[in-house]
Amino acid sequence: MKLLHIKCYFVAFAFFCVSFLSGCATGFNTNSGQHDQGVAVPPVNADTLRRSEEEARKRKEERIRQQEEAKQNIENDKRKAEAEQQEIKAKQEQQRQAAERISSASATDMPPLAKQYGCIACHAIDKKVVGPAWMDVSKKYKGLTQYTYRYREYPLEAGLMLKVSMGGNGSWGSVPMIANDPGGVHQADIGELVKFILALSK
Ligand code: HEC
Repeated sequence: MKLLHIKCYFVAFAFFCVSFLSGCATGFNTNSGQHDQGVAVPPVNADTLRRSEEEARKRKEERIRQQEEAKQNIENDKRKAEAEQQEIKAKQEQQRQAAERISSASATDMPPLAKQYGCIACHAIDKKVVGPAWMDVSKKYKGLTQYTYRYREYPLEAGLMLKVSMGGNGSWGSVPMIANDPGGVHQADIGELVKFILALSK
């Protein structure tokens, strides 16, 4: 008898569970308002539903489009910044190369004879060392035909050859140039060097 009671309770409980669960299930699937209030909501107009869905889709598309646009803008900005950076780098590289060309020109443009006779110890093309820059020497005598060496006039080239060969001071200051060819045995080479110097400013 007792057992029957328990069975009855159990069946009743099972029934309750099933009905409760099915209630929940329908509650999930239907409009919750309907479930809460127990009032049937008039069926949603299929057209309105479609339209609102359409609008939602459009809004979403618009949002995506805006995001894409923003992304594109960022990309463009980045690319622009990169291009600018590259331009700046290219300009710096050009300047560096130009500077290198100038300095290497002054270093390499001293002719081999100048190295052979040791002129490079005191002279450079474009800057004063111990003696004046050869470019300045060239400018000083540009257009002149005469040169005075130890109170005597000589044709420019011959006079400068004498000065280089025998040394002396006074043209550029008190520091003297040594005699570079006191024996006068390298006059052809000294002549070449003087010609080279005079031709620098032309
Ligand atoms: C020891 C340093 C020294 C050496 C080496 C030297 N010079 Fe000079 N040079 C001078 C000085 C200093 C002067 C400036 C002299 C002056 O004020 O009159 C000068 C001036 C000159 C001048 C200009 C002269 C003038 O009256 O305006 C010429 C050209 C010249 N040097 C060419 C040469 C040549 C070419 C060589 C190599 C064969 C040479 N020098 C080697 C120091 C030197």
